[in-house]
Amino acid sequence: MPTFTPFHRDLTFLAPLSETRAARLVRFLAEDEPSTVLDVGCGWAELLLRVLEAAPGARGLGLDLDEQSLAYARERAAARGLSERATFEARDACEVTGTFGAVTCIGASQIWATTQDDDRPMDYIAALTALRGLLPRGGRLVYGEGIWSAPPTPAATAPLAGRDDEFVAMGNLVQMAEANGLAVVAAQEADLDEWDAFESGFTAGHARWLAEHEPDHPDADEVRALTARQHTSYFDGYRGILGLAYLQLVAV
Ligand SMILES: C[S@@+](CC[C@H](N)C(=O)[O-])C[C@H]1O[C@@H](n2cnc3c(N)ncnc32)[C@H](O)[C@@H]1O
Repeated sequence: MPTFTPFHRDLTFLAPLSETRAARLVRFLAEDEPSTVLDVGCGWAELLLRVLEAAPGARGLGLDLDEQSLAYARERAAARGLSERATFEARDACEVTGTFGAVTCIGASQIWATTQDDDRPMDYIAALTALRGLLPRGGRLVYGEGIWSAPPTPAATAPLAGRDDEFVAMGNLVQMAEANGLAVVAAQEADLDEWDAFESGFTAGHARWLAEHEPDHPDADEVRALTARQHTSYFDGYRGILGLAYLQLVAV
């Protein structure tokens, strides 16, 4: 099995998220000067680190199962003088309890899924209910999750879960948030440029590998096939159909 450079080499976040949008989300989370900030499914926690920079009185907790991402999060925290205020724990985030002044959860609703099947509908309500339970009234939440930007087609669903009800449209998601004790301050979605940059990040490591190895290397066919599958899934499949909603929410 060929090994590739880690995604953080090519991606700032493990989500379709531009610098402009990230700055807006950070401002929203830091504005009330929370004393505690939680990032569930934090990955390498770039957003959490930026919130801690913007809210100098805050302590942050990042939870993820991926040790390699957490190791990089700790390295970045140390390089930015944030180690004293940032804690990263490798554990299942569905076990987290307590209340936090600000919470972020981007692309990680599967944490609260009732089944671990890959082909289930997204359980937004389980995630929103759990996240609401971690906030006091007035606490802020950034919730980022997949939605349908356009009606799903067979070509779009085939490389995903293969079902039209895997995701909902933005309007449905907004209603779910409101029905679960969360007022919507802003509801926006990633644009195509953010998606293209994100998807490119998945194949950039393959391109680098191909440039560094001979074309007849025993693993080269596999790398070319991985790249082709990713490109077909996205460009011929879910590009412009799979979206990513960013909800800025306040607990009410
Ligand atoms: C799409 S990534 C998003 C990472 C990060 N929020 C970002 O935007 O850069 C989802 C993350 O959720 C993590 N994750 C999945 N299930 C988890 C669980 N049960 N507990 C903690 N983290 C989990 C994955 O390891 C992955 O890093």
